[in-house]
Amino acid sequence: MHTQVGIVGAGPAGLLLARLLGLAGVSCVVLEKRTPDYLRARIRAGLLEQGTVDTLVDAGVGDRLMRERLIHDGVELAFDGRRHRIDLKALSGKVVTIYGQAEVQADLMDAHAAMGTEIVYEAEDVSLHGLTGDKPRLRYHKGGQTHEITCDFIAGCDGFHGVSRQAIPQDVIRIYERVYPFGWLGMLSDTPPVNHELIYTNHERGFALCTMRSLTRSRYYLQVPADEDVGDWSDDRFWTELKRRIPADAAAVLKTGPSLEMSVAPLRSFVAEPLRYGRLFLAGDSAHIVPPTGAKGLNLAVADVRFLTEALTRFYTSGRSDLLDGYSDRCLARVWKAQRFSWWMTNLTHRFPEALPFERRAQSAELAYLVSSQAAQTTLAENYVGLALG
Ligand code: APR
Ligand code: PHB
Repeated sequence: MHTQVGIVGAGPAGLLLARLLGLAGVSCVVLEKRTPDYLRARIRAGLLEQGTVDTLVDAGVGDRLMRERLIHDGVELAFDGRRHRIDLKALSGKVVTIYGQAEVQADLMDAHAAMGTEIVYEAEDVSLHGLTGDKPRLRYHKGGQTHEITCDFIAGCDGFHGVSRQAIPQDVIRIYERVYPFGWLGMLSDTPPVNHELIYTNHERGFALCTMRSLTRSRYYLQVPADEDVGDWSDDRFWTELKRRIPADAAAVLKTGPSLEMSVAPLRSFVAEPLRYGRLFLAGDSAHIVPPTGAKGLNLAVADVRFLTEALTRFYTSGRSDLLDGYSDRCLARVWKAQRFSWWMTNLTHRFPEALPFERRAQSAELAYLVSSQAAQTTLAENYVGLALG
């Protein structure tokens, strides 16, 4: 079997790429190791930059998004018990969109079902071959049989734990990484959000974030040790701890209720360079991870996919490979700016167990500076709403 682009992974990156390529008349096959139900049930972040919204609309998967999304003109930063609003719209001219990544995933899956894209779910032992030749191959097992697909190109969209990045020889890939000494305990509940915009709180007991999925569904996060056992957290314990960390006026109006989900996610900054090896191109979490503090993960994946689509369609329509050759550098320029921002925002808002008293004082000073300086707030706003696509 032959396809033009073989895609590994049916997360947001793989499915968006398949959708944009499909619309451009480029054939592709997607191999995914999980089941559709698993993918639909996965709860991830929920904040989209305008460029991401535009790309989803261009991909024809924006109808429900435009109907159901919440638009936020600002965001709050809280510390020392006080709340400070950053007016994103006034400072940057742009807004952000709240719409759950699980919904983006569902919209993409529905669009593919309607257009008949070949997506092989529960593909086992996916492996990549012949990447430096001109007919790379994907092999996998399903139903007790071995299958092989020859491709013109392979897109590695299989996330941080996938096989695509591992298929690149170690001496041609360079890894930049920082693992943080804490994780986020997330909880979802059908309760109205505590505030109409997000609140990022720096508190001596640890960071807390109040976010949402809709006007009736809230998402809250607490900084916890990286090895925290979610089994140790009852709903009651979560709500009590959240109330202790967020400012008193927010805690006073917080609506509690049963949790729909609770899970712990580690925090990591990670970049693999370059994003290309022969005819393999990495996109999304397979190439880079950001800590969730700046909500950049999905947005970066969408930007990669947009660049890769442009590069592949240019190749198929004009035979030119200049955009393919420039793909890695073009993505990395954006990735590193988002890495810097996510790392900075994490340092600003979290309590680091090993921080020197000097570093803690400097963090306090930075927060105080930020809320007193329009220049500093403009820098935050410009990055938070998303830098130009480049
Ligand atoms: N074979 C086939 N599929 C695989 C394999 C494999 N060996 N390994 C992983 N996958 C699949 C996973 O099951 C998953 O569905 O690849 C997909 C990768 O999806 P994501 O992890 O969501 O990565 P990506 O599409 O790049 O998502 C980018 O989504 O949740 C965020 O943090 C993420 O925000 C980022 C964005
Ligand atoms: C979320 O809504 O889950 C969310 C929002 C903003 C973040 C991280 C997560 O920075």
